[in-house]
Amino acid sequence: MGNSLCQQVPSLKDHFSRYFRVGTSVSSPEVGYAGDFIKHHFSSITPENELKPDSILNQGASQQWGGNVNPQVSFGEGTRAILRFCEQNGIALRGHTFVWHSQTPEWFFKNNFDANQGYVSKDIMNLRLENFIKNTFALIKSEFPNLNLYAYDVCNEVFLNDGGGYRPKGQSRWMDVYGDDSFIFNGFRYARQYAPQGCKLFLNDYNEYIPAKTNNIVDLANRLKQQGIIDGIGLQSHLSTDYPDIQTYMTAFNKFRGTGLMIMITELDITTNGDFSKQAQMFKDIFQAGTQTSGQLHSLTVWGTTDERSWRSSGHPLLFSNYQPKEAYFQVMTVGVKEEEKEETNLRH
Ligand code: G3I
Repeated sequence: MGNSLCQQVPSLKDHFSRYFRVGTSVSSPEVGYAGDFIKHHFSSITPENELKPDSILNQGASQQWGGNVNPQVSFGEGTRAILRFCEQNGIALRGHTFVWHSQTPEWFFKNNFDANQGYVSKDIMNLRLENFIKNTFALIKSEFPNLNLYAYDVCNEVFLNDGGGYRPKGQSRWMDVYGDDSFIFNGFRYARQYAPQGCKLFLNDYNEYIPAKTNNIVDLANRLKQQGIIDGIGLQSHLSTDYPDIQTYMTAFNKFRGTGLMIMITELDITTNGDFSKQAQMFKDIFQAGTQTSGQLHSLTVWGTTDERSWRSSGHPLLFSNYQPKEAYFQVMTVGVKEEEKEETNLRH
C-alpha cells in the first residue's frame, strides 16, 4: 500500500476549510503506512481506540500509587504514535472518550482497583473520575505540549439505543455505582476544570436521529448548557442507505442546532448493499448541510479512511476504497463555494 496513494485527487480538508474541519478516525499502524494520505485529506483525527479508558488506564500503577482514589494513566506506543503524528503535522485531535459504558475496565469501578472486589461508593468514584480526567489532560500536555487538542467526548453513549432514557443499571457500570446521572454532570464539571484552553467539551451519541433519542440528547445538553459545562453535541452518524432517510437525519441535525451549542459530526459512515449513487448522494447532502450552518458545525469526521479499515465489516461505508476515491468522494467534492455564495446572496435579498 503506497504511502502517497490518492494525493492525485483534491484534498477534502482544503475543499471544506472555509466551513469546518474534515476528520477521520485512525488506528495506530495506519498513521505509518497511510500517513501521506491522511495528511492530504484530513485536518482532524480521532484515535479509533487509543484514547479509550481501556487503552490508557493503568491498573498496576493505579493499585501502586492511586490510594484507591487516583487512577493512573499511561500511553502505549499506539496512542503515542497517533498523538505524535498529529502534533508533528499540525493536525487537530478529537479526544475520545472519558465516560463510556464500554471499553472501560471493570476494575476502574471496584475497590482497590480490583475487579474481584465490590463497587466503590459514589464519593470515591467522583474522586476517581476527577483524577482520571485531570491525569489524562496532564499526560497529554506533558508528552505532547504542542498538540492542538480541540475537542473531547466527555460522555459517550449514555442513552439507550433507541431513546427511552439513560442506559440503566446492569448496562452501565457508571449507573451501577451512581444510580443517577450525577456522573455525567460531574464528568463535564471536571473536564471544564482541567481541559486545556481551546478544548471543547462534547456529549456524543449514536442513533441520534431516532426522534425519542434526539429528544433525550437535546434535553440533557440543555441542562448541561444551563450550567455552562458543555460546548457541543457530537452526532456519531452511523447510517445506511436504507435507514434513516436523509430527511429524518436532517430533522435531528436541526434540532441539535436549535440548542445553540457547537455541533460536530463525529463518526460518519453510510453502509450500502450496492447502491453507491444513493450513498454518494447522502454523503453529499450531509457535507452540504454542514456548509450551511453559519459556522455551527465545527468538524465533520468520517469513521475511517477507507472501506477496508472500517469497523463495519460489510457495506463499503466510507469515501474511499483501497485508498482510492469512490463516487461518494466525487459527489462530496461537488459541494462548494457556489452553493454557499448562492445562499448568502439569497439571504441578502
Ligand atoms: O486490541 C485487540 C487485540 O489485541 C485483539 O487481538 C483483537 C481480537 O479481537 O481485538 C483487539 O481489540 C479490538 C479493538 O477494536 C482494536 O482493534 C476489539 O476486539 C474491538 O471490539 C474494537 O472495536 C472497536 C469498537 O469501537 C469497540 O467498541 C472499533 O475498532 C471502533 O471502531 C469502535 O468505535 C466505536 C466508537 O468508539 C463509539 N461509537 C461506535 C463506534 C463503532 O462501534
